[in-house]
Amino acid sequence: MKEFTNIINWNKLHENSSSFKNNSPFKFGYVEEIFNKNFYDELYQSYPKIDDSWIVNNTMFKNQYAKEVFIPEVPEDIELAQRKNDPTLSDAWNYLVHYIQTNEFLDNFSKYSGVPDLKIKEFAFIAYQQGGFQLSHAHNVGPSSLHWMSYFSKGWRKGDPGGTFMSADIDESEIIFEPYELDNTMAIFLDGPNSWHGTRYIEKDVTRQAIGVKIEQYSSENGWTSSTELAIKNAKNQLKENTD
Ligand SMILES: [Fe+2]
Repeated sequence: MKEFTNIINWNKLHENSSSFKNNSPFKFGYVEEIFNKNFYDELYQSYPKIDDSWIVNNTMFKNQYAKEVFIPEVPEDIELAQRKNDPTLSDAWNYLVHYIQTNEFLDNFSKYSGVPDLKIKEFAFIAYQQGGFQLSHAHNVGPSSLHWMSYFSKGWRKGDPGGTFMSADIDESEIIFEPYELDNTMAIFLDGPNSWHGTRYIEKDVTRQAIGVKIEQYSSENGWTSSTELAIKNAKNQLKENTD
């Protein structure tokens, strides 16, 4: 497999850190030129074409294409993942999937977000074509779950739908931010009860290419924060705070 180095513009990410931490009503960020150009070009050129290996999510709530990439359920099985290349993906994409599971990557995202002990939980290619959309929603699975989207779409017109909007309420009229450049940019938010987001309906004959990555706090002792006693404890504490 081809070797790559220095693939992410860490300075660009960290420059956005205080904006991420101070945004309200929930934490979100937007970074341009997140990947170094040479590596981005490789990713862009080999972004997988929509074929039978993709699933179509077509419901009342969304119309999108998705292609899941293998991530070990237990992060300690990382060695298993390192040995497993996805033959349907290019070297650059396989490298990225491996790299984001390293401490170097995860520590930088912890520093950026203020969320400690991050691990990669899910990685998927997510694409929209004409008629694609996802209604505004909030996952609210726990206090320490980050959703990172990166875009691989050229020629986007400012104001055109396709990027993941952030909204102050479930209603799209309350949109507070929407990525306007989808060529080598990233949008990210911290999950919570009011972290509303979605993708506005796409009328033009275009393909919006992106990845969606879930990054979450994890410990060998307690597991993922979204599915453990820790999450229950946090919820109970919040309830207690609210009723005190
Ligand atoms: Fe979502």
